[in-house]
Amino acid sequence: MSGPVGVAVVGCGNVSHQYLPTLAGYPDDVRVVACADLDVTRAAEVAALYGVPLGTDVATAITHPDVELVVNLTVPAAHDLVAADVIAAGRHVYNEKPLALDRASGARMLDAAAAAGVRVGGAPDTFLAPGLRNALRAVNDGSIGTPQSALLIMQGPGPESWHPSPEFLYQRGAGPLLDIGPYYLTALTAAFGPATRVVALARQAFAERTVGSGPKAGTVFEVEVPTHVTALIEFAAGTIATLVMSFDSPLGRSGLLEITGTGATLALPDPNRHRDHGRMLRRGETTWTDLPGDDDPRIARGLGVAEMARAIRAGVPHAASGERALHVLDLMLSITESAERGEYVSVTSTFDPAAGAGH
Ligand SMILES: NC(=O)c1ccc[n+]([C@@H]2O[C@H](COP(=O)([O-])OP(=O)(O)OC[C@H]3O[C@@H](n4cnc5c(N)ncnc54)[C@H](O)[C@@H]3O)[C@@H](O)[C@H]2O)c1
Repeated sequence: MSGPVGVAVVGCGNVSHQYLPTLAGYPDDVRVVACADLDVTRAAEVAALYGVPLGTDVATAITHPDVELVVNLTVPAAHDLVAADVIAAGRHVYNEKPLALDRASGARMLDAAAAAGVRVGGAPDTFLAPGLRNALRAVNDGSIGTPQSALLIMQGPGPESWHPSPEFLYQRGAGPLLDIGPYYLTALTAAFGPATRVVALARQAFAERTVGSGPKAGTVFEVEVPTHVTALIEFAAGTIATLVMSFDSPLGRSGLLEITGTGATLALPDPNRHRDHGRMLRRGETTWTDLPGDDDPRIARGLGVAEMARAIRAGVPHAASGERALHVLDLMLSITESAERGEYVSVTSTFDPAAGAGH
């Protein structure tokens, strides 16, 4: 096969409005031929809005003869079910995060894809953006000396003020750790390699929350998951990290991801964004040095899909891999279980940090 990879977008909710403009910016790599959703009217509206030829149901989109790769933007509880149908149809699948709700579903997805000879990709793709990539290079090339530790903080009042359907963000598969944690933990595992054990504590400040915008504004819904999570993480390389992920704080503070080595502290760009840049403070100095970033508007959510398409055509591994996403899922579930059980939990999955250098 040659030319751009034919893509179907499944799940036409909030985040599809970020992916579709990005994908349109990579016409040499991808061509979106169909949008699909459980709500076919919504799929048709989104297709029309972005000039996609077809807005249809899921089965029609994933079996369309021009579709080779399906971008799965459904809610977390549907990720593995949609991916299973895509793989059964012999297409590659790129999933939003988290990869699945549990380890077994994630592993089944990867096994099924391997048996079918198709690929699994997984968000986030921010570690492919030049700002984060340049900062990670400074960890891996020795610029900060021997890496020692990391600090990760994201806190705020929660997404129900702006997301018109926030219920899923407080159900199994989300909460601050599984919703926002993938950005920080994917960046951290890109810097330190696989994690090996965790210990954690967690709390839930409110049993109910209220939808703050859109047609459902004022609707009260139940909170199923912890909304303030703290954890210590140890990596195979011996480095350690301290994590705070919270939807319980009126004070918004996000994008704090610092890595300290024997020679410098690195303030990485917000791993939930694509166009920031990092900074480095060398031991003995008082002035920060800016690291390069890139303001190209095409560097946005969906970058990993374009990279995966290029890798498919080149016949080489893609960077935002299913193995990487499964390890991050395993790490987050281990943190959740440690908080529940009050003990260290070993993280047994792994991934090859060198696989898929990015194209
Ligand atoms: N909203 C954001 O800013 C954002 C940012 C990054 C990542 N994400 C991730 O993107 C995914 C979707 O989030 P969202 O905010 O767009 O959610 P959303 O609720 O706005 O949209 C989800 C869409 O998926 C559809 N859907 C659900 N199950 C389906 C199924 N089985 N088959 C087909 N369609 C199905 C729904 O009808 C809905 O249109 C989640 O995994 C989320 O973590 C969201």
